[in-house]
Amino acid sequence: MKDLKAKIAELKKKFNSVSARVKDEKSLQEVRNTYLSRKRGELNLLFEEMNALKPEKKSQAGQMINSLKSYIQERLEKLKKEIAVKERPVRKIDLTLPGEKGYCGAPHPVVLFQQEIEEIFLSMGFSIEEGPEVETDYYNFEALNFPPHHPARDDWDTLYITDDLLLRTHTSPVQIRAMEKRKPPIRIIVPGRVYRRETSDPTHLPMFYQVEGLVVDEGITFANLKGTLERFIKTLFYEKIKIRFRPSFFPFTEPSAEVDIECIVCGGEDEKCRICGGSGWKEILGSGMVDPQVLKNVNIDPEKYSGFAFGLGVDRTAMFAYQIPDMRYFYENDLRFIRQFALK
Ligand code: PHE
Repeated sequence: MKDLKAKIAELKKKFNSVSARVKDEKSLQEVRNTYLSRKRGELNLLFEEMNALKPEKKSQAGQMINSLKSYIQERLEKLKKEIAVKERPVRKIDLTLPGEKGYCGAPHPVVLFQQEIEEIFLSMGFSIEEGPEVETDYYNFEALNFPPHHPARDDWDTLYITDDLLLRTHTSPVQIRAMEKRKPPIRIIVPGRVYRRETSDPTHLPMFYQVEGLVVDEGITFANLKGTLERFIKTLFYEKIKIRFRPSFFPFTEPSAEVDIECIVCGGEDEKCRICGGSGWKEILGSGMVDPQVLKNVNIDPEKYSGFAFGLGVDRTAMFAYQIPDMRYFYENDLRFIRQFALK
């Protein structure tokens, strides 16, 4: 018994000195095996020795060994926590590295361009109006002087929802809606999406954007139309840009003109220019004096009032301004393309 007591004391001393040197997971495990292993652990050896003692001595010896066992267990548990804290990976931060930039969304290039157009007209005293993309035959055609079955409708073929409901082919129906709602003076622009029965190619899409314009007041003449559009185009592009008004036909304007600007890509020098086809000109909008019949359709007296209207293709003008060879790029959602237009 005396022997055993001394052994216990010695073992404790040994454990203390060995455990003081434990510095990592591995050495901790070694110490645990040495003392607590079920097979050849030092404590189990002591228990075996205890079993050989006489019954009256056994319980006292058992208590002593058990208290050493819990001492060792507690100590090892504490060491385990200390090691866990020490070995926790530390994230080293290199402050000289460039930071990670979060991705920030950006407006779509066509939207950006539309905003530029809006700014110019707002500065000239226009206000912005909107209308539905699903239209009735009446607003898209009839009120704009396209009688049913008139061949002029062929140029504006669209996607029908019912016989009477369709996807609007232009923003011009909003002219009618605006003039029904209020009396002149009217000075509005109408940005929005329009649809046509079109197979997409580099310069055509079944869906695109237009900006409509409408001015109705007493004494409005073609000079107002010309002055307004010239001012607008020069502000959007540059002051010296060449502009051409070319006679044209629209059922809802009389007289009508299409407006071309000089090809800013080749300046008319390249016969094979992909943008202007060698003509040196690029059509960007349709315009004209509001047809007196259209004014009558909305109960505005054409003897008293006159007006002008125009419709600009936003995508095709943006394509021209940014020199993008294919209009489909705008809608393919390739972020490498789209991000180039993000405001820095
Ligand atoms: N709505 C016509 C188009 O889509 C453009 C236009 C608008 C022409 C207004 C004259 C006046 O082609």
